[in-house]
Amino acid sequence: MGNEQKGRRDFMGMALGACAAVGGVGALYAAKRSWDPLPSVKAAGFTTIDLSTAQPNELVVEKWRGKPIFVLKKTADMEADDRDIVIGSDRFHVSIGLCTHLGCIPAYQKTNHVFFCACHGAKFDASGVNQGLPAPRPLDIPPFKIDGTKLVLGESGPEYKKMLDAGLTATV
Ligand code: FES
Repeated sequence: MGNEQKGRRDFMGMALGACAAVGGVGALYAAKRSWDPLPSVKAAGFTTIDLSTAQPNELVVEKWRGKPIFVLKKTADMEADDRDIVIGSDRFHVSIGLCTHLGCIPAYQKTNHVFFCACHGAKFDASGVNQGLPAPRPLDIPPFKIDGTKLVLGESGPEYKKMLDAGLTATV
């Protein structure tokens, strides 16, 4: 093999490698974007989540005191529910993402707006209300306080107390 031919092959290899690297970075960036939670701050048992960038029907999973927290901005065609957290004209479903049967983490099915628990088949609607057994009750709502477009998890604001008093969620 002449030097010229070898040099050309090396160049092609480097060019292909560079393309693969750029593609890989692009894929990673896309994946990271979809993993990015909402802007949030965690401090001393409180998690503050900024809901202003939430997208309709896109489930975001946050963390509060070691538990997964579901945050779902409802679309206009999703039924309103007394368990919704209302900020301006937006409605959100926020719950602890642990099945009330035996504690598995349900998955959100975007197409039919259902939380499905694969462990024993429990279903919850987009408001977290259980659809029959085996789940004995709706997904629990964590204590929250509304602060503008932010939600402070761990503080019991008046909206949360109202839900508790109405029996819309269990105490956690
Ligand atoms: Fe979810 Fe049993 S833990 S159905």
